[in-house]
Amino acid sequence: MISADRVLTNIGELVTMAGSPSLRRGSASAELSIIENGAFAFEGSQIVWVGSSEDIASKVDLCDVIDIIDCKDRMVTPGFVDSHTHPLFGKTRQDEFAIRAAGADYEEIAKAGGGILNSVEKTRNTSTKFLKENLIHHLGIMLAYGTTTAEVKSGYGLDVNTEIRCLEVVSELIPAWEQTLVPTFLGAHEVPVEFRGRADEYLDMIIEKVLPVIKERELAKYVDIFCEKGVFTPEQSFRYLSAAKEMGFGIKIHADEFHDTGGAGIAVDLDAASADHLLSISRENMKRMAESNTVATLLPGTALFLGKPFPPGRELIDAGAGVALATDFNPGSCFCESMPFMVNLAVCQCGMTVEEALVSATINGAVALGLAERKGSIEVGKDADFIIWDTDDYRSIAYHLAVPDIIDVFTAETAVYDILRGNQTMVGEK
Ligand code: NIG
Ligand code: FE
Repeated sequence: MISADRVLTNIGELVTMAGSPSLRRGSASAELSIIENGAFAFEGSQIVWVGSSEDIASKVDLCDVIDIIDCKDRMVTPGFVDSHTHPLFGKTRQDEFAIRAAGADYEEIAKAGGGILNSVEKTRNTSTKFLKENLIHHLGIMLAYGTTTAEVKSGYGLDVNTEIRCLEVVSELIPAWEQTLVPTFLGAHEVPVEFRGRADEYLDMIIEKVLPVIKERELAKYVDIFCEKGVFTPEQSFRYLSAAKEMGFGIKIHADEFHDTGGAGIAVDLDAASADHLLSISRENMKRMAESNTVATLLPGTALFLGKPFPPGRELIDAGAGVALATDFNPGSCFCESMPFMVNLAVCQCGMTVEEALVSATINGAVALGLAERKGSIEVGKDADFIIWDTDDYRSIAYHLAVPDIIDVFTAETAVYDILRGNQTMVGEK
């Protein structure tokens, strides 16, 4: 008999996403591996058994179980993995949002010193205490919408002190926080004003002075760059990411967002963990991505927020690429923490099926963060991160627009919402 602390039974649809801990593409990009009337057990933070409710009593030793949660035919899915977010910033930018709504263009605002540089000024002048409180506030919203693992990028400091301060906030939070957080250094998010016209010198400064400190102090797992017309060129991006890779960082790239600059091709050349955005990716680079292990991370919330064409999810999947979905949560181009809403958008606007969107928002996001052995599916040996939904049909996640039917979110040992717990059977009290 298997010993466990907690079990969930009578799960109408247990969406396990079971399968290989590698990038799901082709036919695997739509496999949910559902168990009807499912159940699973976990001990500490680890899942120890998954199967049918009928089998649990003969497989799991229920005598020592602390909680038996009767899901009453509701659905359970893995927690969402949001593999691209920017929640470390000083202040929101609803002022610019309103200017854009009145007709101004995002890139024009950026050229005039707004955009990312607007946030940089605010972030540099923000206390560490506020940065932490603001981060916690937005992570809490992500959690309420089912995100159990989130990437956290720096990138609104763009000077040594502020970038390190931002990453320190994340590393201090990690041991105490319910979600699993993956820090990414995005010091190459823009060229800061004091380096205007000297992008190469800025990159040299980061390579020489900042990356070694971050590596030594283990402040970030990934290094990212914004490769875009008017920001960093493909050559600069290649040089910078090569240096980061050489130092042992995982690498990511904001690629082909507004213009096809070939960023996705650079990601493939350098075997990057992911190429993100891809609104303007070329056909040729779609094919190259399909032949690579680089995850194509799509951020449909950004396209919606900026009024741009949606990323080509259907084309990428048909080409054979492995696709992840993420929010890109940030103060300028997507002020939205909700992964279920990204699933809505992927299905309604990117030509993806419901199944593909769910695989992209869970296990493929875990691959994009190098965490597929632990996250993204409900399987033995994985972390007990899951969502209990007030529905018995996974298609409802994409169908219920902007309003997720989430009842409970669990991350490893922490039950975040306790609505179901009032009704559960406490074995110890019997
Ligand atoms: O991923 N594209 C670059 N960076 C962010 C936007 C940041 C901002 O406008 O503040 C993004 O969309
Ligand atoms: Fe981004």
